[in-house]
Amino acid sequence: MRALILLAHPEPRSFNAHLAVQGAEQLRHDHLQVDVVDLYAQGFDPLEAAWHHPRRLQPERFDAQCEQRYSAEHDQLPADVQRHLHLLRAADLVILQFPLWWFAAPAILKGWLDRVLVYGPMYNSRQRHEHGVMQGKRALLSVTTGSSARACAVDGREGDTRLLLWPLMYSLRYIGFEVMEPHMVHGVRSGHAAERKQARDEALATATRNYLERLARWRQWPIVPFNDSGDFEDGVVLRAEATTHSPFIRHRNDG
Ligand SMILES: Cc1cc2nc3c(=O)[nH]c(=O)nc-3n(C[C@H](O)[C@H](O)[C@H](O)COP(=O)(O)O)c2cc1C
Repeated sequence: MRALILLAHPEPRSFNAHLAVQGAEQLRHDHLQVDVVDLYAQGFDPLEAAWHHPRRLQPERFDAQCEQRYSAEHDQLPADVQRHLHLLRAADLVILQFPLWWFAAPAILKGWLDRVLVYGPMYNSRQRHEHGVMQGKRALLSVTTGSSARACAVDGREGDTRLLLWPLMYSLRYIGFEVMEPHMVHGVRSGHAAERKQARDEALATATRNYLERLARWRQWPIVPFNDSGDFEDGVVLRAEATTHSPFIRHRNDG
């Protein structure tokens, strides 16, 4: 079994980097082969743009999806995208490790999705959701927030973090992953006065231990339910009798 841990944080001494390294050790202990990819350290270019596709189907106007598919069909995908695709396809478990920045993932991680989840080989209208190319594989969002758990709760001031993460979870589902319930560590802040630093360090040590204990049993980790293609009338609109799983796809009269 193989795991891929994708780290999206600019500082190698950060708590996020710590969770990535510790998580990798835990999984190796469980005899998984683990690749840790540090997107910042690699200088990953998050911009999907024309210069990544020098041999074009439509030279006059850049259409990202068309050119991704064309590059893939002609074995012309950029070398970094090919490397990432290789690691992604080889993995049985993928962990995206990142801090919440402006209520979303850092731009470098969003750009990884834009460039590496290539239209054509990674998804198309026939291969998506439960028929997606990554079916049978698991994906986990491991996220830290600066705000407290109370502020990140359903009725909290910052907005429910799980809800904020839904577009990312749905993107992973789109390419076929079984998406694990996100793992969150809240209240990860620096700049505390010296007397509070010890309490902070202890809280982070406890959070790390909790994460590793859960990771040791990752196969039992709860999975997020999604609607299947059959739940949509004409493949488009949620059937009246279908259960609502997504906070963004719900029955018209659900309020
Ligand atoms: C650009 C930026 C935006 C941020 N936006 C949020 C946010 O929307 N919500 C939040 O709770 N914390 C936010 N934070 C705080 C980070 O989530 C927090 O610093 C991080 O989770 C701590 O982990 P680290 O020590 O590994 O960096 C933001 C931080 C930065 C630098």
